[in-house]
Amino acid sequence: MTTHQQQWNSVDDYFTGLLAPPDEPLTAALRDSDAAGLPHINVAPNQGKLLHLLAQIQGARRILEIGTLGGYSTIWLARALPADGSLVTLEYKPEHADVARGNLARAGLDRIAEVRVGPALDSLTVLGAEHAAHPDPFDFVFIDADKANNAHYLEWAVELTRPGSLIVLDNVVRSGAVTDPTNTDPNVRGTRAALELMAKHPKLSGTAVQTVGIKGYDGFALARVLA
Ligand code: SAH
Ligand code: DHB
Ligand code: MG
Repeated sequence: MTTHQQQWNSVDDYFTGLLAPPDEPLTAALRDSDAAGLPHINVAPNQGKLLHLLAQIQGARRILEIGTLGGYSTIWLARALPADGSLVTLEYKPEHADVARGNLARAGLDRIAEVRVGPALDSLTVLGAEHAAHPDPFDFVFIDADKANNAHYLEWAVELTRPGSLIVLDNVVRSGAVTDPTNTDPNVRGTRAALELMAKHPKLSGTAVQTVGIKGYDGFALARVLA
């Protein structure tokens, strides 16, 4: 019997083999992440390629990522930047940041991509002060850390971007629980708060899409920053 998950895996393998085939730095990044005991919660290769294409379509020169893990999505994003571009990625756990720095260096991206360690809300406060002193907005923000803080991360993303910037929020389906206003899971509550903020924020126009694939059933939200 072919289960839905097996079918989703087959189709993702086909799409990925054609359109987002692995290379040595990407393969090694997942291998070293696994060897270091990091959880397998990185984006799928075809999702990484989507982030890469979105950043290129955006013409992004500066990218902010919240939630680095081993730097797999970071590699896809940083590879979308021009040589004089820059990426800042925020990670709570020093041991994740160490793995990510090794993976970024092997990919030749260590001059372009900077990993900042600590609770993202603290790092965002620092980025906010830097932005106030020397305005340098991000063109693209990928939010993929602790989902309880998603609405706070979205507020910071608006603060640190410019009209026309793009914000992507990962993992918004929560196995379907995202529809339940009585759910007490902080990840569900944080994700609902972010989506509701996206809906009502005068500077955001957004949407959300469900996905299936090797990472199961999930989805992402995407918003454009308005003037
Ligand atoms: N973007 C990565 C996956 C990130 S997984 C990829 O697709 O390859 C989420 C990461 O967010 C984990 O590494 C976790 O340690 C980190 N994280 C969790 N809470 C955080 C916080 N408060 N501040 C910063 N990072 C946090
Ligand atoms: C989890 C986090 C993610 O960012 C993701 O893409 C998948 C799963 C998690 O915390 O389980
Ligand atoms: Mg994610």
